[in-house]
Amino acid sequence: MLSEKYNEFTKWVIYQIYPRSFMDSNGDGIGDLQGVISKLDYIKELGANAVWLCPCFKSPNEDNGYDVADYCDIMDEFGTMEDMDQLIDELHKRGMKLILDLVPNHTSTDHAWFRESRKGKDNPYSDFYYWFDVPPNDWESSFGGSAWQYDEMRGQYYLHTFAVVQADLNWENPAVVKAMQDVVDFWVNKGCDGFRIDVIDCIAKDLPNGKDRLGPRLHEYIRALFGREKTAHLFTVGEGNTNDIEDIVLHCAPDRNELSTLFIFEHMECGRSDKFTPKEEGLKSLRDYLVYWQNETGKRDLLYSLFIENHDQPQMISRIGNDRELRYESATDIAAMVYLLKGVPFIYQGQEIGMPAAHYDSIDDFDDVESLGAYRKYRQTLSEEETIEKINFGSRDNPRHPMAWDDSKNNGFTEEGCEPWLITHSRAEEVNVKKDLVSEKSVYRFYQELLKLREENSAFHDGNVEVISSPEDGCFIYTRSAGDEKWVVICNFEKDQDIELPFECELPLLSNLGRSTSTGRYSPYECAVSKVKCAAGMRKK
Ligand code: GLC
Ligand code: CA
Repeated sequence: MLSEKYNEFTKWVIYQIYPRSFMDSNGDGIGDLQGVISKLDYIKELGANAVWLCPCFKSPNEDNGYDVADYCDIMDEFGTMEDMDQLIDELHKRGMKLILDLVPNHTSTDHAWFRESRKGKDNPYSDFYYWFDVPPNDWESSFGGSAWQYDEMRGQYYLHTFAVVQADLNWENPAVVKAMQDVVDFWVNKGCDGFRIDVIDCIAKDLPNGKDRLGPRLHEYIRALFGREKTAHLFTVGEGNTNDIEDIVLHCAPDRNELSTLFIFEHMECGRSDKFTPKEEGLKSLRDYLVYWQNETGKRDLLYSLFIENHDQPQMISRIGNDRELRYESATDIAAMVYLLKGVPFIYQGQEIGMPAAHYDSIDDFDDVESLGAYRKYRQTLSEEETIEKINFGSRDNPRHPMAWDDSKNNGFTEEGCEPWLITHSRAEEVNVKKDLVSEKSVYRFYQELLKLREENSAFHDGNVEVISSPEDGCFIYTRSAGDEKWVVICNFEKDQDIELPFECELPLLSNLGRSTSTGRYSPYECAVSKVKCAAGMRKK
């Protein structure tokens, strides 16, 4: 049984917004907070009751807001603090929660702390970052190249785990811990209900020669942020980089007073052998990871994060589903596979209309720092054409194209005469909100029905998960049960087949192709959810 606090979080349904690409309210081609406010009803009607906003703090935007220049101010392009206050208000009025994206590992080199720090060795901020006369190790930046950068002004090297303009904060300095506590408290006082914490397991290092993540004092730092009386009620999800269950227990067990949950990214490898290289795999690959992690987290009563996309991940349906002829079927089948399991659902903008990955012919159409770095790297050994294919496959721009609200010139994201900050999605004419909503096969409406079912039946929150199908079955079947209530979720994979069950069911209450029975012939990617007839009437086949 999940602890009471965590059980409550299984009732949250979190819609993730990449504000820059969601909705532009003032025609400058950049999404903003007023744009978000204008779409809150759309999100609420979907069935989400919380919004996670990717970073919206003051930033020069070298890594789209993950390079923060002031944690307690709003990014100019996104609006003002008044807009943020209004957003919090509008969310709360609708009974919805706000989750902000905290970036505690690094700041922009434009942050006042860094500007002071680089001035010399004897000012209050001099130890806010890691400075060395010579690089103490050969750590590499996640975005390519050395993680150490020489700074002329200070005459020393500083650490940047990510881009050169993202300097790592030195958490061993108690003043840094205090400063970040103040940031958290500032937002809690404003009414923020939770945080997604960027690369949380990077904040503690083992310098000079140890590891660049999971340093010895990591848990102490996390508790300093979220284990305090003021913060213990918050929902917190860490962006971890670990698939080790023992690490996850240390972060997320309720008595640890650290995080509510951690994103576990192992299933992000479905359909690829590395970030930029596809691998022929179907729904089974996702099924296997889901079963494994439901089991591991279930045994330990940990809260699991149910997600398949985010602002860093190319769309799942394009990797393991059929994003052409059977796009609707793939999108809805995968939704049923994932979101009726145990945990807290996260839905990334566009996923609710089955947005596929995009495709462009020229590197000029890409923006993401990571993609540009990868382009330079691959181009050394591959042809232009081969390189572009890799970038198309793996680029973080995929989920960052302007949200496609309709099929007009800028897809309703910004005014027609404006230039959106990133090229519009190459498939937006075919896949957009307006079209989906009037379609007979609407991914949005399926999500709506799914989330309603989830909300109304507590078995989908705290209920036990039991996997009925075996790994060879070509489908994923699981039950959720609480008390004498039991549901069965049947998700077929790529091939049509007959599906039988060891118990009798009522008529399906949710299905993507309008099934009238829970058993019998299933088409590719067909799914159905039914209530199992009560125990008394059960018979084994
Ligand atoms: C996380 C974010 C990613 C960002 C990186 C550095 O992985 O999700 O978008 O680039 O951290 O902050
Ligand atoms: Ca704008």
